[in-house]
Amino acid sequence: MEASFDPMYGEAWNRRQISEALCMPSTHAIVVDAAGDEISSEPMLPDPRLPAGFVLTRHAADEEELLLIAVKPEWRGLGLGHMLFSHLFDHAKARGTTRIYLEMRRGNPAIHLYQKVGFEPIGQRPNYYRFTNGSRVDAITFGRSI
Ligand SMILES: CC(C)(COP(=O)(O)OP(=O)(O)OC[C@H]1O[C@@H](n2cnc3c(N)ncnc32)[C@H](O)[C@@H]1OP(=O)(O)O)[C@@H](O)C(=O)NCCC(=O)NCCS
Repeated sequence: MEASFDPMYGEAWNRRQISEALCMPSTHAIVVDAAGDEISSEPMLPDPRLPAGFVLTRHAADEEELLLIAVKPEWRGLGLGHMLFSHLFDHAKARGTTRIYLEMRRGNPAIHLYQKVGFEPIGQRPNYYRFTNGSRVDAITFGRSI
């Protein structure tokens, strides 16, 4: 988390927020190593492999919302983002999800990945995000059926 998000955008969650989210049965985390293989997201289960990326989602009925996705800077551009989505689609389908939504700040280059894996823009919220320097930027909402 700390390595992957630029503090300027205020997007990273702190340890407490993550712990609380992971305690909720509706929230799901997938963590991958540098080969794109899933490793445990449960801190109490020791796993010698180092995390290289993760995705966090929350489901309600047959819909799922992507809360966060990140790959450590040194592992970017190697397909891990793509692999995280591939794991996510498998897990989400298995729990009955039929549609996934996500929201991003306008200008985030992550849009390339979202479009590659089939998300389409469906709306926007003007000036929704506020950066740590006070400037504001729109949120764009994307959806994808699975
Ligand atoms: C977005 C992010 C997860 C992408 O991870 P990644 O492992 O680099 O993604 P991939 O290597 O699987 O890229 C998949 C495709 O998207 C494209 N892409 C991904 N990030 C891109 C970027 N910053 N600029 C241009 N294209 C990009 C890649 O070119 C690739 O296309 P290709 O298959 O034709 O080569 C990563 O850049 C990241 O952690 N960003 C910071 C955190 C963040 O902003 N998360 C989103 C908000 S929660």
